[in-house]
Amino acid sequence: MTEIISKTAAKLKNKNMSFDEFKGNSWILIVDDDESNCFIMKAMLEGFGYANVKTATSAEGAFDAELAHDIDLILMDIDLSSEMDGIDLFQKMKGSATASIIYVTGYFSGQMMEKARDTLPSAILLKPYDPGLLNANIEIALHARMIKKENVKLGNTIIQLIEAMEKTIALKDPYTSGHQIRVAKLAKAIAVEMDLPGEKIDGIYYTALVHEYGKIFVPAEILSKPGKLSERQFRFILDHPVKGSEALADIDFPWPVADIILQHHERIDGSGYPRNLKGEEILIEARVIAVADVISSMTSYKPYRHALGIGEALEEIEKNSGRLYDSTVVRVCLDLFMAKKFSF
Ligand SMILES: [Fe+2]
Ligand SMILES: [Fe+2]
Repeated sequence: MTEIISKTAAKLKNKNMSFDEFKGNSWILIVDDDESNCFIMKAMLEGFGYANVKTATSAEGAFDAELAHDIDLILMDIDLSSEMDGIDLFQKMKGSATASIIYVTGYFSGQMMEKARDTLPSAILLKPYDPGLLNANIEIALHARMIKKENVKLGNTIIQLIEAMEKTIALKDPYTSGHQIRVAKLAKAIAVEMDLPGEKIDGIYYTALVHEYGKIFVPAEILSKPGKLSERQFRFILDHPVKGSEALADIDFPWPVADIILQHHERIDGSGYPRNLKGEEILIEARVIAVADVISSMTSYKPYRHALGIGEALEEIEKNSGRLYDSTVVRVCLDLFMAKKFSF
C-alpha cells in the first residue's frame, strides 16, 4: 500500500470520538422571543455543563449565530411573535439539514404537530419543562448529531481512500489512469439515466474509479507490452478482477466494491470471466460498469493498437445487446451518446 492509502486507512480506524468529548465541544442555540426565557435556559444548560450556549430572540439573531458557529442543537420556541414561527425558521436555517432540533413551546396543537413532524425533531417539550427531562433530551439529540457528523466524516474518508487507490494505479499503469476516470464518468451518467437509487449510483461511480485495482499485481512490462502476449502473460491479465477483489475484500465499504470489481468482465450469456456468471447473477453495478468499460477501452489508445472511433464502440454494444451486455444499460448508453451528446 502506498503512504496515502495507509494514512487514510489509519484515519478510518481512529474515527471514534467519545460522546463526552463531543458534548463538551458542541454548540447549542436557544431561540425564544422572550429574553428572560433565553436567560433562564442558558443558565440551566451551563449548569448541566454545556460551555458553548448561544441565544437569539429573533430570526436575524438565529441566522447570525448559525453563521458564526457550527450549531449542533437548536432549542426552539414555536411562537416567536412574528410572522415566521419557530418551525419555519428552523426550515430556513442553513444548518437545519444536520443540526438536531428540540421544540420548547408554551402551546402545542395538532396542526403544529403535523408541521413540526417534517423537520424530524428530537423532542417537543411543553413549557414549563422539567429540567431533568430537558437535560436527557439534549443528550439524546446531541447523540444523534454526533452520529450524523461521524457518518459524513467517514464517507469523506472512504472517498479519499478510493481516490488514493486510483492515483496508485495511475502511477503504475499510465494506460489505465484516464480509463478508470472515463468509465466512472460514463457509468455514473448511465446509472443516473436509469434512475437507480442514489447509493447504487455512488457505488457504481466510486467502484468504477478503481475497477482495475487488480492490475497493480500485473507486472508493468505485461501491461505496456506492445505486441501479442504469451499465454502465461495473458493469464496475469485475466486474473486482475480476482486479485483486485481479494485485495479489497476486507475493507468495509458502504457499497459491494469487491464483488463489483470481481464481476466487471462477466457477460450476460455467461461467456465472461472469472466466474461465468449469467444475466441477473451479475450485479447491476457490474453490468453498468461493463458497458462503460467496453466503450472507454475501445475508444482509447492501447500499447498494441490505436484508438477506435466511438461509432465502432457503440456498434459493438448494440450488436451484442442482451447477449454480452445488459440490454437496458446498452439502450441508455446509446441514447446518452446519440440523443444527449454525452462526451468523456
Ligand atoms: Fe478490467
Ligand atoms: Fe476497465
